[in-house]
Amino acid sequence: MKELNIQIPIKIYEYEELTDADRKLIDAACEATQRSYAPYSHFSVGAAAQLENGITVTGTNQENAAYPSGLCAERTTLFYANSQYPDQAVDTLAIAARNERGEFLEDPIPPCGACRQVMLETEKRFKHPMRILLFGKKGIYELKNVGGLLPLSFDASAME
Ligand code: THU
Repeated sequence: MKELNIQIPIKIYEYEELTDADRKLIDAACEATQRSYAPYSHFSVGAAAQLENGITVTGTNQENAAYPSGLCAERTTLFYANSQYPDQAVDTLAIAARNERGEFLEDPIPPCGACRQVMLETEKRFKHPMRILLFGKKGIYELKNVGGLLPLSFDASAME
């Protein structure tokens, strides 16, 4: 029997410790939550993608009366970024969320599994690590790439 221990390095920053660029990106994700369309869950998520060309793209969760037809903020943002700028890698993706009382989450927002898979595809397609910033009032998690969010992940290489 062998054992595999996968370690996931996560840096935890206080807002004031972030670089100016990261603070701006977190601010953009927080601000985007105001444009969320979440009449059913009342959970407002915002994401901000910093592209390699310097452009920042934001997106929010978009819900639907037919619940599964809605989409999370992370996928809305990445699909929009990849649609508008198909040749631009994403350097950093920042994510923030507010609860039904309108308060930002205390703990860093954990992206859902489907969004993690889409993040991985974005990282792989550009062969460029995508840094992830997860905003929480108690701290901001920084992951150096998507691999940390999705160990033992499935990607196109498995089908070769
Ligand atoms: N949601 C996101 O936008 N991102 C996440 O990472 C988790 C969940 C959205 C989907 C739905 O609109 C609402 O939050 C509640 O699940």
